[in-house]
Amino acid sequence: DVDEDLVARPPVVTIMGHVDHGKTTLLDAIRQTNVTGGEAGGITQHIGAYQVEIKQKKITFLDTPGHEAFTLMRARGAQVTDITIIVVAADDGVMPQTVEAVNHAKAAGVPIIVAVNKIDKPDADPDKIKQALTEYELVPEEWGGDTIFVNVSAKQRIGLEDLLEMILLVAEVNDYKANPDKRARGTVLEAELDKGKGPVARILVQHGTLKIGDAFVAGNCFGRVRAMVNDKGRRLKEVGPSTPVEITGLTEVPQAGDPFMVFEDERKARAISDRRSIKQRQSELGANTRVTLDDLYK
Ligand code: GTP
Ligand code: NA
Ligand code: MG
Repeated sequence: DVDEDLVARPPVVTIMGHVDHGKTTLLDAIRQTNVTGGEAGGITQHIGAYQVEIKQKKITFLDTPGHEAFTLMRARGAQVTDITIIVVAADDGVMPQTVEAVNHAKAAGVPIIVAVNKIDKPDADPDKIKQALTEYELVPEEWGGDTIFVNVSAKQRIGLEDLLEMILLVAEVNDYKANPDKRARGTVLEAELDKGKGPVARILVQHGTLKIGDAFVAGNCFGRVRAMVNDKGRRLKEVGPSTPVEITGLTEVPQAGDPFMVFEDERKARAISDRRSIKQRQSELGANTRVTLDDLYK
């Protein structure tokens, strides 16, 4: 829209890569937390969404498990990422999920930064990783290409500043913007039924500002925002673009990748979420196509 009042928003950076290459440890190092330590079997099960502030600039990070939840989101065409960081363990190599991540980032047309991790390991061979990735047209700048590679050790906290600097650089070049002065829209990252709280959804607000009391549709579900909590556990009254937030107030549990959209009132939200109209539209579009709320609400 030409007349939109666009302002700068934080980049949304997705961390992808093969199982155990160190995605969560890297984010832990950046955030100075220890999410990895609390994971069952050291395996990420959820999409973690976090916001950090570096040099007075915010960056939103999405940590991805290498499996279904995110694959589902990808299959449904949800576009949440501005920049993809592909983590490759320097003592291992380019693995199937590394390639999948590269293909996904390319298909989405987002810039890729390769973080060659675990360079502290005695058998680490970062050049071998670089060499292997040239087969996928990821050629380091120092070899005449245009892909940013950063050697890091999440464990020893080596190279983190370089990596963050590169993220901020890419963000600066791309100048990500959104209009905070309208009804919120975004994407459901994941959702579940909580015994105490009822349906809970972690969503990424992408446009507009989400407020307590807003009536919304998330996929087939509708609701009214009862409470919002950010990744630091802080309760918020409103959140702007590029902010991940956990919300309650849903009537049902939506799916990862579902579009999220605020409407002027609950009556409208309820009407839009009508299952029959969504089902109708879905059968017109085919099972693998994401039904956008724009399609339904015109
Ligand atoms: P999934 O979410 O299960 O796909 O794994 P992940 O990519 O998030 O990897 P995770 O952070 O769980 O790390 C896997 C293992 O590698 C853990 O034992 C980490 O301690 C270890 N690790 C991660 N980064 C480094 C590093 O820089 N150096 C060394 N030596 N070990 C690391
Ligand atoms: Na792991
Ligand atoms: Mg992980």
